[in-house]
Amino acid sequence: MRKINKVGIVGAGLMGAEIACMLLFFNKYVVIKDVSSQILENALEKCKTFFLRYLKKGKLTEEEYKNKLKLLIPTLEYDDFINLDLIIEAVNENIELKTSVLKEIDVLCSKEAILATNTSGLSISQIASFLSYPQRFLGMHFFYPATIMRLVEVVKGRQTEEKIISEVLSFCKDIRKIPVVVKDTPGFLVNRILCALLLEAVKCYEEGIDIEIIDKSMIHQDIGLPVGPFSLADSLGLDVVYYTLQVLTKGYNKRFYVPDTIFKLVNQNKLGLKTNEGFYKYPKNIDNSSTENLDIAKRIMTAAVMEARDCENEGIADRKTIDLAMMAAAGFKKPPFVFAQENGI
Ligand SMILES: NC(=O)c1ccc[n+]([C@@H]2O[C@H](COP(=O)([O-])OP(=O)(O)OC[C@H]3O[C@@H](n4cnc5c(N)ncnc54)[C@H](O)[C@@H]3O)[C@@H](O)[C@H]2O)c1
Repeated sequence: MRKINKVGIVGAGLMGAEIACMLLFFNKYVVIKDVSSQILENALEKCKTFFLRYLKKGKLTEEEYKNKLKLLIPTLEYDDFINLDLIIEAVNENIELKTSVLKEIDVLCSKEAILATNTSGLSISQIASFLSYPQRFLGMHFFYPATIMRLVEVVKGRQTEEKIISEVLSFCKDIRKIPVVVKDTPGFLVNRILCALLLEAVKCYEEGIDIEIIDKSMIHQDIGLPVGPFSLADSLGLDVVYYTLQVLTKGYNKRFYVPDTIFKLVNQNKLGLKTNEGFYKYPKNIDNSSTENLDIAKRIMTAAVMEARDCENEGIADRKTIDLAMMAAAGFKKPPFVFAQENGI
């Protein structure tokens, strides 16, 4: 099986830059393209800061630090994309933009290259229908922050070859990720369950419960989320959450919707951490302590459990895989099926 060493990333925003850092860590050669030189500069800075920590702790020598950064090629052009093993598209979550970017890459890169999208939930088969070589195209859904979160949802389109899936699974293991193969359905697996959980949290808020109380209740030891749903949504970006909810609404009708609260925040450009305001205002003192409020937590977790059961019934993945994915992607100590069993849900 071929070893993937040369990777292209299109889109150097939040996710593109994170994926680049993570790949450099494993000594992969990374070409990263964006339409903005400022964004490329920020991505480079992010990688420098990331590896500087290792240098300061003595975990990298000066020479190793410099060599890591030499592996990163920021560019505004596609010239360096011709001979890569894998190209990951990480532009904004918009099907027209993604399709046009992928069509462009499809014709210019080597026919041997694997083409992946980091979409949070758009249809892989639909995007593939615009490509000349759909058999080498798939979803590789990394989670934020990709330097830390180990899950990758590997999404097989109708035409994706088995050989491509095997090569990507082996690559994921090479970069110490936990790959989970999921069906090509709206929102895939993890975001679908997380959005069900977030919608219930927003309902609690719209009924008058304080955001911080809701967040802290979810950090309870019996659930063990590292951050509450509102903090998580702010750090992912409320625009990304909004688009994901729209995809889920289109895919599953009334079960999903964009709540007024999120609609208003996005319209006011309050997108979370990246705009310094979302559900919370930033900078904010990080307080990830828990509050004893198991009633709220149980109510919110029940929504996640229901969605997880639907995913299992629809064959998106089996329950063991679903629990593993929720632990690896969101840090649940008690993932949905374990929580359901312990709490008689
Ligand atoms: N934010 C998250 O937590 C998260 C998590 C998992 C997956 N994703 C997915 O990753 C993708 C990127 O999300 P993001 O949060 O990094 O968005 P972002 O807005 O931070 O970055 C998108 C980048 O794409 C660039 N871009 C736009 N058109 C381009 C083009 N033609 N060529 C090259 N670059 C172009 C933009 O300039 C921008 O820098 C989306 O599909 C999103 O759903 C996001």
